[in-house]
Order: sequence, then C-alpha cells, then structure tokens
Amino acid sequence: MKILVLGSGAREHAIVAALLSEDAGHDITAAPGNAGIARDVRVADLDANDPQAVTNYAIEHNIEFVIVGPEAPLVAGVADALRTRGIPVFGPGKAAAQLEGSKTFAKRIMDAAGVPSGRAVHARSMLEVEEALDAFGAPYVVKADGLAAGKGVLVTEYREAAVAHASLWLDHGTVLVEEFLDGQEVSLFLVSDGHTVLPLSPAQDYKRLGNGDRGPNTGGMGAYSPLPWLPEGFVDEVIQTIAVPTVRQLAKEQTPFIGLLYCGLIMTRHGIRVIEFNARFGDPETQVVLPRLVTPLSGLLFAAATGALAGMPHPEFALDVAVTVVLASENYPDAPVIGRPVTGLDAAAQVPEVTIAHAATAIDPATGELVTTGGRVLSVIALGTTFAEARERAYEALGHIELEGGQYRTDIAARVA
Ligand code: AMP
Ligand code: GLY
Repeated sequence: MKILVLGSGAREHAIVAALLSEDAGHDITAAPGNAGIARDVRVADLDANDPQAVTNYAIEHNIEFVIVGPEAPLVAGVADALRTRGIPVFGPGKAAAQLEGSKTFAKRIMDAAGVPSGRAVHARSMLEVEEALDAFGAPYVVKADGLAAGKGVLVTEYREAAVAHASLWLDHGTVLVEEFLDGQEVSLFLVSDGHTVLPLSPAQDYKRLGNGDRGPNTGGMGAYSPLPWLPEGFVDEVIQTIAVPTVRQLAKEQTPFIGLLYCGLIMTRHGIRVIEFNARFGDPETQVVLPRLVTPLSGLLFAAATGALAGMPHPEFALDVAVTVVLASENYPDAPVIGRPVTGLDAAAQVPEVTIAHAATAIDPATGELVTTGGRVLSVIALGTTFAEARERAYEALGHIELEGGQYRTDIAARVA
C-alpha cells in the first residue's frame, strides 16, 4: 500500500518501523520526518499542518492511506480535507480532535457520556480561579484550555504557583482548575472507526523530567508496556465505561471519532478516572506499544479509517515487555539547547533487542553530522523477557550515546523490574 505518515517525532519513527516490520512491501513516505526516519523511508518536504498541501500531495502521489501522527494537523483539519477527497485517513476531523484540543470540549463530552473524570471548574477570571483552588484544596491542578505542547498543566502544592500559572494562561484564554487525582497513571490506546473500538496494550508514561517524578512536566521522558500490576478486567472496564460511551457521544453529535483514542487515566481509590483524552498516539508510549504488536498495524489502522473494525478480533501482542527511555537536550523543557552533535547511535543499536526512534534529529548539511533540533532528541527502545532485562539493555545502549548536556531519567520501569 502507498502510505503517507505525517509527523516528525519518535512516535512517527515507531509507526514507520511497525509498518516496515510487516514486510508487506508498503511504499512509505513520511512528512516531514527526521534524520532517522529518512534512513528508513522516503521523506517529503511538506507542511503536515496544511490541509490543502497534504491533500494535493496525496492526490499527486496516488497515496492510498494517510496516517496522522501529531495533534496539530488534526486540529488544523488535515483529516477533513483528505476525507472530502475520498482519501482514507487514520485520524479524526477537526471537530472530534477537539477532544484533545479543548479541555472544555472534552469535559462536556465526558459529562454528556457519563464518563468518570475528576471535578473541574472552567474559570474565566482570577476570582473564579481562586475560588476553585480553595474549594478543591492542595495539591492544586491548573490547566490551560487549548493545546500547550505539554506545558499547560501545573500540579503543585503551592497556592501562589497555581495562581501565577493560572494568571499566565488566562491571558491566552480560559483555564481549568481540577480536583487532584491520586493514583497510578495508565495510558490506554484504542483504535476507533467512529463506532467500534479495539484496545492496544496499556502503557505507563513518565511525565516529569526528573527521577522520582520530580521536576517540571514534559512531553514524556520514558515508558513501559505492558503493566503487570493492572487488575484483571481493567481494559474491558475502560472500553465499556469510557471509550465506547465517548465514541458514541461523538457519533451522536455528528463528529465521529476515527483514529486513535488515547485515554489518559488515573486509578484512584474510588475507581478509574480520565485525566485527559488525546486524539492521537502518545509519545513515548507508542514506542513501547507498537514493537510488541503482532497484528499488522496497517491493516488495523486502515480498517479503522474505512469503518471496518466491527467483528475484528482484538489486536495481538507479543509476551515480550518493552521499555523506552527518552534522551532530551540540555535545558529541556524550558529552552532546549539545540544544534549539538549526537553520536554513538550505531553502537547503541548493536545492543541486543534495542532500536532507536529518532525525534529531534537532522543531518547538518555542512558537516554531515547528526545534530539535535529540539527538546526530545530520541527514544531508546529495548525489548526483553523481563523488565529487568529490557531496562538493562536500554541503559546499556544509552551509555553508548553522547550528547553534550543530554539528560535522561534512570528510573524508567524500575518500579516493575
Ligand atoms: P495532562 O496534560 O492533562 O495529561 O496532564 C499532565 C500530567 O499532569 C498528567 O499526566 C498527570 O500526571 C498530571 N495531572 C493532570 N491532571 C491531574 C489531576 N487532576 N490530578 C493529578 N494529576 C494530574
Ligand atoms: N506521552 C503523553 C502524550 O503523548 O500526550
């Protein structure tokens, strides 16, 4: 199949790797991709966020299927433009992508669908913010309403910090003040064709920058899958009480959700609660979920894009476990230092069962060197029969990689090893 993958992160590199592993002879193009993706498949210099440009490219190049990686093209309406021209696309239209793009929209859908989430107040003024902070008490949770690239959420014990964060984001729109939910976090991905959902294997993401979950929130510093501590029946409960009601509600509102429903969940003492939905694969969780997927990815996503999931069996996963550790630039997430050489990747990839998914990498045209272009530089992915083995492999591989000022957590998956 002629497939176009939109995006440029480690998530998209993992998607490309999964498609290649099918050995189905797919003709794959990624846009815009990165230096690692460019080693594996063709890359096109295309603005992935421009609905018209993407549609024109797909038509000109006889693309049979488009897979959208990040949220920005979805929110920009890229999937709508493709669907209008009859091109199958995995990714929701602009309206359904509001499930991720607007926390207020997501809360409204959850309330309408009876989906369990924390209590939240949608505040339009500092007075409303402060009333809500005091009503819920510490720890305080303050969120920007729109897309904020992982920087919009603050969880803090300090009221002054919560007030300052709210005041910053109120200048850009409204903010949500939420009840703090305590418990283990789970990322569960469900493939949806607008009516039927099929679950992938659960994963856990490490959102904070530092070991022991300290430091600022990031896009994600590492992940592992599966989650051996999950109670039996967990996935079925999420399907029945969260995913299906959400997808039904969106279908009822004439904004069907066709794509990846990412349920960000917390297992509280009182049961499972949604902390967020995303409208696309998670990064870095994808890097630990897809390498374990046995069912061909292209068939699964194409069935979702064409309304054909009903009656399909649940996707199958290998018994191997997976760990991924993100290597980030100095000063990430505030103001990452970029343009630095990163070396040792070939030696790292020689470690058994290790692969490297590139994110913010490019080849410097002047020197031919691999250099960094952003905060999260790459993900080292390791498989193993146990978490201890997978962790050991991941960290051995990281030991071969050199990046001045590079930072990574050393406790990814330690709690299950
Ligand atoms: P979000 O972007 O909404 O996923 O939030 C980023 C991270 O902040 C989550 O993964 C949680 O670790 C934390 N967080 C968000 N909302 C809450 C909440 N209501 N209670 C506790 N932690 C939260
Ligand atoms: N890893 C969190 C996210 O993709 O939103």
